[in-house]
Amino acid sequence: MDIREVLKLADQLVLEQTGKPLDYLQKTVLQGALQGKKYSEIAENHHVSEGHVRDVGYKLWNLLSEILGENITKVTLRSILTKGQFYSFSSAICMQSVTVNNVNICPETSKPQTVPQQPQQNSSRPHLDLGSAPEIFSFYGRTAELSTLERWIIGDRCRLVALLGVSGIGKTALTIRLIEQIKTHFDYIIYRSLRFSPTLALTLTNLLQVFSSEPDISHNIETLRSQLLDYLRQYRCLIVLDDVQMLWSGQLAGQYKPGYEDYHHFVKLIAETPHHSCFLLNSCDRLQEVAKLSKGNHPVRSLVLGSLGVAAKELLQAEQLADAETWETLINAYQGNPLWLELTATMIRELFAGSVSEFCEYDAPILCESLLAELSQQFQRLTEPERAILTHLAKEAEPIALPQLSQKTSLDPSEFLNAMQSLKMRLLLQEEKREKVTLFALNALWKQYVQNRYSE
Ligand SMILES: Nc1ncnc2c1ncn2[C@@H]1O[C@H](COP(=O)(O)OP(=O)(O)OP(=O)(O)O)[C@@H](O)[C@H]1O
Ligand SMILES: [Mg+2]
Repeated sequence: MDIREVLKLADQLVLEQTGKPLDYLQKTVLQGALQGKKYSEIAENHHVSEGHVRDVGYKLWNLLSEILGENITKVTLRSILTKGQFYSFSSAICMQSVTVNNVNICPETSKPQTVPQQPQQNSSRPHLDLGSAPEIFSFYGRTAELSTLERWIIGDRCRLVALLGVSGIGKTALTIRLIEQIKTHFDYIIYRSLRFSPTLALTLTNLLQVFSSEPDISHNIETLRSQLLDYLRQYRCLIVLDDVQMLWSGQLAGQYKPGYEDYHHFVKLIAETPHHSCFLLNSCDRLQEVAKLSKGNHPVRSLVLGSLGVAAKELLQAEQLADAETWETLINAYQGNPLWLELTATMIRELFAGSVSEFCEYDAPILCESLLAELSQQFQRLTEPERAILTHLAKEAEPIALPQLSQKTSLDPSEFLNAMQSLKMRLLLQEEKREKVTLFALNALWKQYVQNRYSE
C-alpha cells in the first residue's frame, strides 16, 4: 500500500472517531508529514499560510494521539506507523500491507478478516446549503451545457465560472441540476441569490456562517475576505451567487451601484488568488471581470445560455399543449426561453384549449400579461440612455448601423456608445455584418414589448 492508502486509513479512523472525514487540508498536511516535508514547504505548495498549516497539523496530531493512545507529533508520526500501531487500530479495514516511503508497516499475517466499505471521499457528505434555491420538478435537455460546466469546474478546476443568459432562459434551473450532478466532488456547496442586493460584507458574513456556527465575524471587509479565502483553500467549495446583475440595477451593465464597488475586487480576488474552490456566478448581463480574466490563462470561463432548443418540446408536452407540428414555430417565436414558453402556454391552454395552431394564427409574438410583467421588470433595470436606444431600435424595420442610430437618439456620442456597449452586455441586441458594417437590431419579442410600452 502507498501513502494514499495510509491516508484513507487515517481518514477512516478519524471518521469513526469524530463522524467527519479528514478535510482537504488535513489530508495535505498528513501526506506532507509522511513524506518528511517541512510545514513551510506544505504551506507554499498549497498556497496557505505556514501558521495555518501548523495549526491544522497540531490539531490533527492531537486527534490521532487520542485515537491511537500514543503521543503523535510530526516527528513521531512515521515511526509510530512503522511500528504497526496504526494498523492494529484499523483491524476492520482490509489491508495487506502499508508502506510509507517504501517502509512496510503491516505484516501480511495480520490481515483482517472483515471487509467493510471504505468511505469514498466526499461521496455522501458534501455540506449542502442551498438557501433560497428553488426546487426543480422537471428538467429537460441542456446535456451539452451540463457537460461543459462539469468539464470546466471539475476537469479544469476553474475558480470562476459565469453562467449568463436573459431572464427566464434557465440559469437557476441548470445550476440546481448541475449541483445534483457534481455534488460529490465538493466539501461544501452553497447557493445564495443576490436578488435583494446584499452588500459584500453581508454576503461574506452569510457565507462564513456556513463554515462555522460561531464565526469570529469581523466588521472589516479585508478580514472577512481573507477569512473566506482561508476556507476556500482549506475545503473544496462550490459557491453559487445567483442574480448577480442586481448589483448594478439601474446602472449601465457591470457598473456596480454606489456602495457595491467592492464586489469588483472580490470577483477579481476569487479569480486571481490560488484556492481549491469554484464560484459560479449567474447573471443576465455579461460580467466585465470575467470577460477580462478569461482572456489570459486564468481558470475563468463563461457560458451564455441560449434557446432550450428541441428539448422545449418536452416542456410543451408537459404543459399539455396540442398540435405538435406547430410547436417549433412557437418555440422560435419565444426564442426557446422556458419561462416565456411556460407563461404563454398558460394562455394557450386557457383561451385556445391548448391548440397551438389556433394561437399561432395571431401575429407573433403575443405577450400575455405575465410575460409583459417579466419584461417590464427587466426594462426597469435599464438606464435612461439605454431605454432611449431601445425605443428607437423598436421603430426600425431593418437592422441599423451605429452612426444612423446615434443620429436618431440625439444622445452625446460617449453616452450613446456606452449605452450600446451596456445593451450588448445585457444580451438584448442582435448583430449582423453587412459589407463590413455592423448592424444592430432588437429581437422580435423585445421589439413587441418596447412598441407596446412606447404606444402607452
Ligand atoms: N431545462 C429546463 N427544463 C425545464 N424547465 C426549465 C428548464 N430551464 C428552465 N426551466 C423553467 O423555466 C423557468 C425559468 O427558469 P430559471 O428561473 O432557471 O431562469 P433564469 O435564467 O434563472 O431566470 P432569472 O434570470 O429571471 O433568474 C422556471 O420555471 C424553470 O423551472
Ligand atoms: Mg434565476
